Amino acid sequence: MRQPMVAGNWKMNGSSSSVKELIAGIKDGMASVTKAEVVVCPPAVYIPRVSGAVEDTAIKVGSQNVCDQDKGAFTGEISGEMLKDVGCEYAIVGHSERRSLYGESDELVAKRFAAARRNGIKPIFCIGETLQEREQGITNDVCSRQIDAVIALEGVEALADGVIAYEPVWAIGTGKTASPEQAQEVHAFIRGKIAALNADVAEGLRILYGGSMNPANAAELISQADIDGGLIGGASLKAEDFLAICSAAE
Ligand code: 13P
Repeated sequence: MRQPMVAGNWKMNGSSSSVKELIAGIKDGMASVTKAEVVVCPPAVYIPRVSGAVEDTAIKVGSQNVCDQDKGAFTGEISGEMLKDVGCEYAIVGHSERRSLYGESDELVAKRFAAARRNGIKPIFCIGETLQEREQGITNDVCSRQIDAVIALEGVEALADGVIAYEPVWAIGTGKTASPEQAQEVHAFIRGKIAALNADVAEGLRILYGGSMNPANAAELISQADIDGGLIGGASLKAEDFLAICSAAE
């Protein structure tokens, strides 16, 4: 049985006071979350504050990216060791906003994945197709190519050290969710592809769905056979909504 996981990607939102309020709200509701693994990924500057606040809880902390290098002249980047030092257990890598707005290639994402691993951080490895790619019928090819970059660098067994988040780009922040059937189809493809290389890794690997997941659609999405939880953007900024999705995952 794979443990369900719900991760909140706060993106570039919040302030000292709103972060304090949000994490307090999530902590307050955690008593009713017994099965799902809960992760929050604040903007980097707020990670130490959030790590401190969740110390005595089951809530885990992740970053929104991690540098592919470990130390030195890489202005603006944050190393895996630093993230570990301030309490991160997870790091998102390859988010579509990083790929499309900041030009991160499959190869760079794979290197960031590797950097997380070698620093003892579990990658939340994001993949997914654009609307144009879906309309061209190449959704599986795109996801495959993105996964292959990590496999080429780290081997298929490396996937067992993290989770995959399938986030169709057209569903992110648009209010347009993939239907449970559409999402399940891609999740099954991803698991099948990995199973062809290593059945144990595929069986144990958690594959999250992301893209306009909310309290109203979470249960149906997460009840699909190959959907093991969610990576939540907008709805993770309200404690009540985020907790409702955590409950749905149970
Ligand atoms: P939304 O839930 O706002 O669509 O964002 C999803 C996402 O990008 C999570 O990483």
